[in-house]
Amino acid sequence: MKGILLAGGAGTRLHPMTLAASKQMLPVYDKPMVYYPLSTLMLAGIRDILVISTPEDLPQFRRLLGDGGRFGVRFAYAEQKRPEGIAQAFLIGHDWIAGEACALALGDNLIHGDNLSALLRAAAARPQGATVFAYQVRDPERYGVVSFDAAGHVADIVEKPAAPQSNWAVTGLYFYDPTVSDLARTIRPSGRGELEITDLNRLYLEAGTLAVERLSRGCAWLDAGTPDSLLQAATFVQTIQSRTGMLVGCPEEVAFRMGYIDADMLRSHARQLGKTDLGRVLSELAEGGQE
Ligand code: G1P
Repeated sequence: MKGILLAGGAGTRLHPMTLAASKQMLPVYDKPMVYYPLSTLMLAGIRDILVISTPEDLPQFRRLLGDGGRFGVRFAYAEQKRPEGIAQAFLIGHDWIAGEACALALGDNLIHGDNLSALLRAAAARPQGATVFAYQVRDPERYGVVSFDAAGHVADIVEKPAAPQSNWAVTGLYFYDPTVSDLARTIRPSGRGELEITDLNRLYLEAGTLAVERLSRGCAWLDAGTPDSLLQAATFVQTIQSRTGMLVGCPEEVAFRMGYIDADMLRSHARQLGKTDLGRVLSELAEGGQE
């Protein structure tokens, strides 16, 4: 399975921070924001990743991420010239996807929790249909919202509804079967002029092949698209890391645990990070000092 990391958009809700910098490059505590969704894709076992960003910001992502060798993965890069919607990623990536199954992670979404890697691997292994993840929030009107019937089956999925039918928000992590790029070609821009990811998901819902995994309260899903949510995400990462000594959203760590890089490579990454806490934790991990 392939994966797309979408780091486009103008980040208008984070102005002036994003006037001269990409939103997904901003720090979430001790790492660039994009490291978190990247780690999620890697945890799902995905090693071929297309990074999509604006023409202005793409060079910075190339500089940060390189060819992927550092993390034992392969990166390709593509431009989204205008912010014309999340589902456009599958049109931009059509040739690169080359008829394979493909996941999509939004560059400002952080998911952390118990049993997450098993859920991700199961979604990646489904041969047919799409899998999305839902999470209970207090302000569902900000998101795609999924509602369920009395039997617990998906009833509907609506983008930013004024009157949400549930408080289950659809997170920015999606797994699709090989039909995705052809299906994406059939959707039309919404009222706000975007190819909506929710419209793509509705096609799977109508075909009876949309699986919705409800994330339990043992999981945390945060987006970092506003000053408040950016601060909350940073505080969350700082709290978990300083309490447990374990890392959240660190692709070098995931690469090592998944067997994509060996202890020597991890050691050299740790050295490069110098005297940071991150470097110290990675160096302990390389020496076998962490469970
Ligand atoms: C997008 C999607 C929405 C989803 C959200 C998750 O919203 O359109 O369905 O719930 O990401 O972060 P946006 O961030 O573009 O407002």
